[in-house]
Amino acid sequence: MGGCLRQDVMQGGVLIAVMTNKSVTTPSVQEYYSSLESRLGYWLLLGNARHCEYWPPGTLWPFPIGCAQRDMEEKLWERLGIEKGSKVLDAGAGSGKVASYMAHKGLIIEVVDLTPLHVQQARRTIRDRKLEHKVSMRLGDYHDLADFNNGSFDGVYTMETFVHADESMKVLQNFYRLLRPAGVLLLHEAEFHWDSPLLQEVLRLSHCQNTLKQGSYEDMLRQTGFTDITVENYTDNVLPLWRLFGVIGSVPYGAMRLFDLDKRFTNVMTGVEAYRHWTQGRYISIRAVKPDSRD
Ligand SMILES: C[S@@+](CC[C@H](N)C(=O)[O-])C[C@H]1O[C@@H](n2cnc3c(N)ncnc32)[C@H](O)[C@@H]1O
Repeated sequence: MGGCLRQDVMQGGVLIAVMTNKSVTTPSVQEYYSSLESRLGYWLLLGNARHCEYWPPGTLWPFPIGCAQRDMEEKLWERLGIEKGSKVLDAGAGSGKVASYMAHKGLIIEVVDLTPLHVQQARRTIRDRKLEHKVSMRLGDYHDLADFNNGSFDGVYTMETFVHADESMKVLQNFYRLLRPAGVLLLHEAEFHWDSPLLQEVLRLSHCQNTLKQGSYEDMLRQTGFTDITVENYTDNVLPLWRLFGVIGSVPYGAMRLFDLDKRFTNVMTGVEAYRHWTQGRYISIRAVKPDSRD
């Protein structure tokens, strides 16, 4: 951590905070998600889904988690607000659970994910649920979506993956290009306003360095050309999961810190620190529309 420097830089005209560290290599997204710790953690705690759940505010007992997972997916579906039969891109689809929920709702889904392990898992999810006729998938990076034609999607969504973007504006410009006029973009993402060196290190280790300042999502969307931007704040709704991670992880994390092993267990570290500092962030659903040229 000693070599980490926080720098404020302009990206597409928007001020963002990034970490630079010349002596330490930041783990890639694939490294982060392919570690044994990450695979076991998601499998044991979230049934291999990789997104936060949605509970009524004030919920203390988070079980069964599966119901709250479906509730978050239902929120995404409601917020997208597009017709059955529409063609939608799931950018960063993980194991394909969200894509299969959307396919059950009647959408035609194209899945892109950067992590080979996740694409394999998504293939299995879609095959097991017999949804191959509604979901197609490919290994790919949402920074480079050149294979898709302009205006070929009615909707694009991300569920907790835009936080990993290295070049946020480039990704949003890609999404804008892929959407047809009046197409909808929906981002379900966390925002971290974490300044301390420890928290910056947590972000670096989990490949979430593009720490956006509150309001930046909206600024970037406006700059990209999107309109009709609406934001819903789900921080209190996802808190039961952050609390669960915080409670389960705190004893092992304490022991790991004692032996200076905490940075080898990035997921535990992230889970505990996210709960300890949950008031310094928010979990939001941001919806934006590509203007309809006929208006
Ligand atoms: C927290 S998981 C969320 C997965 C899924 N959306 C869900 O809700 O279960 C983040 C996913 O984003 C993917 N990802 C991160 N950066 C990406 C990129 N540049 N292009 C495509 N996928 C990416 C990761 O491989 C991972 O599967």
